[in-house]
Amino acid sequence: TTSSTASAISRITVIGGGQMGSGIAQVAATYKHSVTLVDVSQEALDRGKGYITKSLKRVAKKKFEGEQAQTAFVDEVLGRISLSTKPDAAVSKADLVVEAVVENIKVKQDLFARLAAHAPATAVLASNTSSLPITKIAEPLGADVKQRFIGLHFFNPVPQMKLVEVVRTEAADKQTVDSAVEFVRAIGKAPALCQDTPGFIVNRLLLPYMMEAIRLLERGVASPRDIDTAMKLGAGYPMGPFELCDYVGLDTIKFIVDGWYREGEGLQGNPLFRPSAKLDELVANGHLGVKTGKGFYEY
Ligand code: 3HC
Repeated sequence: TTSSTASAISRITVIGGGQMGSGIAQVAATYKHSVTLVDVSQEALDRGKGYITKSLKRVAKKKFEGEQAQTAFVDEVLGRISLSTKPDAAVSKADLVVEAVVENIKVKQDLFARLAAHAPATAVLASNTSSLPITKIAEPLGADVKQRFIGLHFFNPVPQMKLVEVVRTEAADKQTVDSAVEFVRAIGKAPALCQDTPGFIVNRLLLPYMMEAIRLLERGVASPRDIDTAMKLGAGYPMGPFELCDYVGLDTIKFIVDGWYREGEGLQGNPLFRPSAKLDELVANGHLGVKTGKGFYEY
């Protein structure tokens, strides 16, 4: 159905079955949307479905008494998710396409050029990028596509974190912004509207905080454990900065701050984002956090 303002989004195609893409697919399907999850191989899709199943079971345990009701819930939600390795066909009937692939500008630009050619002319196209300018991802697209292009930035773990940043470019039209906001509410999340600037709101504040925590450690002010305890018990954060760094991934953090320091609009050379020897060393040694079993802590 369509209306003169926001058009209701019911069919969603998510490109990328990693942690973020799987989480987005899961949440959309939980809230009764019809979802197609796309990745390059069946193995990647199976892995994504594995993440979703595990997380849904966790949600089901809290929501329903008894194994039968829990299994029924998991199956019902999974039943609304189709898997595909064919992006062109997968977007052909989509109301909304959300991209959550690798943080590489060229990869995203090429992907969207292709998706725009196969998606309906009314579809909203969204990127879940956390560090690349939405405007730059949309740059090669025609004006008719740019007006339907937006950032929808989810947070990890997607099923649990209530926020989605809705990132508007100069070119995005009101209907696109309204549809995106309506979609975010319809999947049980809270939207925060933001202009297309590096880090949007959350990461623009979170990355300096994480980097300053690492610099406290480098100066020998306190141990990771004491800094984490201090911020959890003294400032009410659910995780301390080092736990959060390890959780997000040290490679991801390095990639974001290095990119901003080098070429972030208005951030080039900003000392908040200057390289940290400690972070560089951990990443160079493959200690990327929880996912590799070691970061600032061992897992
Ligand atoms: N799927 C479903 N539910 C999940 C989940 C998952 N993958 N992970 C956690 N949960 C739920 C649990 O079931 C539990 O629910 P309940 O409170 O209703 O019982 C709740 O989350 C809390 O989980 P736990 O009790 O296991 O553990 P914690 O209390 O330590 O919470 C946490 C875990 C939710 C991750 C919490 O520590 C937290 O909020 N941490 C901060 C996370 C954060 O800041 N994320 C943003 C990172 S930055 C980012 O994503 C941007 C990127 O661009 C860099």
